[in-house]
Amino acid sequence: MMKSNLLIKKGSNILKKNRIKSHIIDTELLLSSVSGRSREKLLLNSNLEMSQTQIRFFNNLIIRRALKKEPVAYLIKKKEFWSMNFNVCKDVLIPRPETEILVEKVVKYFKGRKPFILDIGTGSGCIIISLLQELKNSKGVAIDISSKALKIAIKNSRINNTFKRIKFVNTSITNFNRYKFDLIVSNPPYIARHQLKNLDVGIKKFEPKLALDGGNDGLDVLRKVIYKSRKILKNNGMLALEIGNGQYKKVSQILKLNKFKEKFLIHDYKDNIRCILSALNHY
Ligand SMILES: C[S@@+](CC[C@H](N)C(=O)[O-])C[C@H]1O[C@@H](n2cnc3c(N)ncnc32)[C@H](O)[C@@H]1O
Repeated sequence: MMKSNLLIKKGSNILKKNRIKSHIIDTELLLSSVSGRSREKLLLNSNLEMSQTQIRFFNNLIIRRALKKEPVAYLIKKKEFWSMNFNVCKDVLIPRPETEILVEKVVKYFKGRKPFILDIGTGSGCIIISLLQELKNSKGVAIDISSKALKIAIKNSRINNTFKRIKFVNTSITNFNRYKFDLIVSNPPYIARHQLKNLDVGIKKFEPKLALDGGNDGLDVLRKVIYKSRKILKNNGMLALEIGNGQYKKVSQILKLNKFKEKFLIHDYKDNIRCILSALNHY
């Protein structure tokens, strides 16, 4: 037996020695998962006794985090996004805080309305599930080229009570031609292929390549998304895109060529333009 506060101290020291910046919160999340208690409860009651089995599990996770740099979300199989819990595994990208900024802006814009929504490259389903959580009368379609990712998205929609309002389709955007939408959202893969090797070890070793690789200039899928959106958005429909750092100029040109008018630009916490909301105007 060992007390929780001691375990957190030991675990976080090991992570720190292995140069993991988020060593404290990582350790707390790992112990929370092993003990089945929320992080808050764990912190409020630092003298909880952990059993031998719990300690063994915990040590194992700490070693995987420290030595292999496995992301915490994959180790505990979940990630919080838009104050909801999402299941994650190596088949889906771990939802990122930048994507919450996109959700926030879209929710604000459509508040009180009920847009019919398409989410292209839904991954864990975090975007469409969060949007439908807020826009209670909306429905949508979520597509992904990865059938494994789609299974996780379906599971997440059940957990978060939006399953009945989402149709899931396993397809590439290139082959998808159904319906007309009021809103299309997408956080497509946008890393240039030659830059994949420069990503953090935890990302390049564990996150799915299909979710990261945007082709030679990083814009392959973004181009497909914009081109298809022009065909399947209603006139005056809205396209909300997350883009990579430094891609704004090029994406802006592609949007213009496809008759989109930029409405809002959203900056991330480091003040880079990371999301573009643009409206389609055929006339
Ligand atoms: C960056 S991840 C985004 C996942 C999730 N929407 C999020 O924001 O966390 C991109 C997703 O697009 C999917 N994808 C890649 N190419 C695609 C294509 N041509 N058509 C549809 N989905 C695609 C990948 O499988 C992956 O799940």
